Amino acid sequence: MKVDVLLGLQWGDEGKGKVVDVLTPEYDIVSRFQGGPNAGHTLEFEEKKYVLRSIPSGIFQGNKINIIGNGVVLDPALFKAEVEALEASGHPLTKRLKISKKAHLILPTHRLLDLASESAKGTGKIGTTGKGIGPTYTDKISRNGLRVGDILHNFDEKYKTAITRHKEMLAQYEFEYDLASLEKEWFDGIECIKKFELIDSEHVINNALKEDKKILAEGAQGTMLDIDFGSYPFVTSSNTICAGACTGLGVAPRNIGEVYGIFKAYCTRVGSGPFPTELFDETGDLMRKNGNEFGSVTGRPRRCGWIDLVALKYAVMINGITQLIMMKSDVMDAFETIKACVAYKIDGVEIEEFPYSIEGEVEPVYAELPGWQTDMTSMQTEDEFPEEFNAYLAFIEEEIGVPVKIVSVGPDRAQTIIR
Ligand code: GDP
Ligand code: IMO
Ligand code: MG
Repeated sequence: MKVDVLLGLQWGDEGKGKVVDVLTPEYDIVSRFQGGPNAGHTLEFEEKKYVLRSIPSGIFQGNKINIIGNGVVLDPALFKAEVEALEASGHPLTKRLKISKKAHLILPTHRLLDLASESAKGTGKIGTTGKGIGPTYTDKISRNGLRVGDILHNFDEKYKTAITRHKEMLAQYEFEYDLASLEKEWFDGIECIKKFELIDSEHVINNALKEDKKILAEGAQGTMLDIDFGSYPFVTSSNTICAGACTGLGVAPRNIGEVYGIFKAYCTRVGSGPFPTELFDETGDLMRKNGNEFGSVTGRPRRCGWIDLVALKYAVMINGITQLIMMKSDVMDAFETIKACVAYKIDGVEIEEFPYSIEGEVEPVYAELPGWQTDMTSMQTEDEFPEEFNAYLAFIEEEIGVPVKIVSVGPDRAQTIIR
């Protein structure tokens, strides 16, 4: 068997959590491979709503094994809060969730360094989630990080060394902080992590593959936030692309199977950074309102705009996408005309290939398609799709060259149509 990967093709929040939950019954193991609690993956079923940050979205479907892989950065305090919330709602986790010993720990000072660095950047800030993601990956790459496996050996000494270094770094910023209160909840979180099986996840995953088990790798963020291929520097600090599943789980490229690319029928972005199709008018406001485009954790309003096929094609290429999943189709129900960006005009020249930079003047060139102006939210099969919706799907498939296999028409698990 191979590892299938599901990942975001835009700037995150495409609806990964919902679809991973829907697909989990087909799999034995679901594993996160990168990112950390900067993610907010929302699932809705049986009239309840859950937001997952570090725990994979396969956790609600029977006794499937869920793994936090080596490529993830884990904040013990936030992890404990997430575990407690799930257990309180009747979802015990200890037997079903395992954590890689090689996952890196987000220290309380990483969060402080993230906030200090952002405030020092002033108007040039990235608009990070403030969860310490950048500083933790920086320490990983500069070989100063602490890993989950370190909890088991000489931990206090390693922790003190790291904190001393971080305090020296923080002293360079004009930034006040109260470390003691953060440390208390952090160490409580470490005790919580110890209740779980800490594993060499690369062995567990590769052995499972040999036993013909099916594995789904769940991406966080999206391709346009990838550290190498996203709109740098307005990106996150990990490889969100398919290759990230290889390094973030220890899976060989030839053992990757299907690569599901998930996108919204339009586009959103949170935080700073270029966004060529962004709308600043009532159309954008309507997308935000109808799509409930507010951060699942921070509540920050998401920036909204038309679908960007130049960026989407690029994301499909980088990831080797084999199947597309279109989310939030219902949010487009309201529009008489729907626009899709098919090229960029930069300095008067039209280009279709995603360029080195999209900062500065990028004028989107739009194709216009008729809207369907029909409520899609209770549709159950593709036979019910309005003609104009089929035309929109066909247009996207033709432009991108990959079939759309799943269409989502609402936030609930049940509002999912597999074609
Ligand atoms: P993720 O980070 O990719 O898992 O996505 P988020 O959970 O951050 O954001 C997606 C939001 O859209 C969540 O509030 C979902 O409940 C919601 N959602 C998912 N699919 C649909 C859909 O098809 N229609 C609508 N209206 N909402 C959806
Ligand atoms: P999910 O998994 C949307 C954005 C932040 C910021 C940039 C860097 O829910 O799709 P970071 O804290 O990672 O250093 O922030 O990346 N960002 C996300 N945007 N969805 C996410 O995750 C995101 N995770 C980070 O807003 O612009
Ligand atoms: Mg999200």
